[in-house]
Amino acid sequence: MAVENTFIMVKPDGVARRLVGEVVSRLEQKGLTLEKMRMLTIPAEMAEHHYAEHVERPFFGELIAFITSGPVVAMEWSGENAIALCRTLMGATNPMDAAPGSIRGDLATVVTENIVHGSDSPESAARELALFFTA
Ligand code: RTP
Ligand code: MG
Repeated sequence: MAVENTFIMVKPDGVARRLVGEVVSRLEQKGLTLEKMRMLTIPAEMAEHHYAEHVERPFFGELIAFITSGPVVAMEWSGENAIALCRTLMGATNPMDAAPGSIRGDLATVVTENIVHGSDSPESAARELALFFTA
């Protein structure tokens, strides 16, 4: 067991659908701790850094256009095994595969508009937290 910090973001669709409170509530009820929170509209250059791992993917343009299309809520959460726990609470990337009871399984229908982002490793978490919460 190890206390981890992770980067979680409510994407533009989640903010537009007034699901910020729902996402925060699910993570709080699980027992995780909200450390930082910031609302912003992501500039294109910052979005390209955030999703750098996907630059070669066919959906990269769509991904950048979507994530910059409106305000997001960026957060730092902490807790035991927070990175994997948050991924479990979020559900599979494609809402068609996401289990009922997960955020995406309960609340989303299509892969582009899947409500939340969560870091997938300690390295991603460190990089993403630095990108959104320093400078
Ligand atoms: P995220 O990074 O947003 O937390 O999601 P994830 O780890 O579950 O999925 P990832 O593979 O990192 O993909 C990042 C985001 O790209 C969009 N996507 N679109 N059109 C497509 O086939 C496709 N595949 C992925 C999703 O919005 C996904 O969350
Ligand atoms: Mg990812």
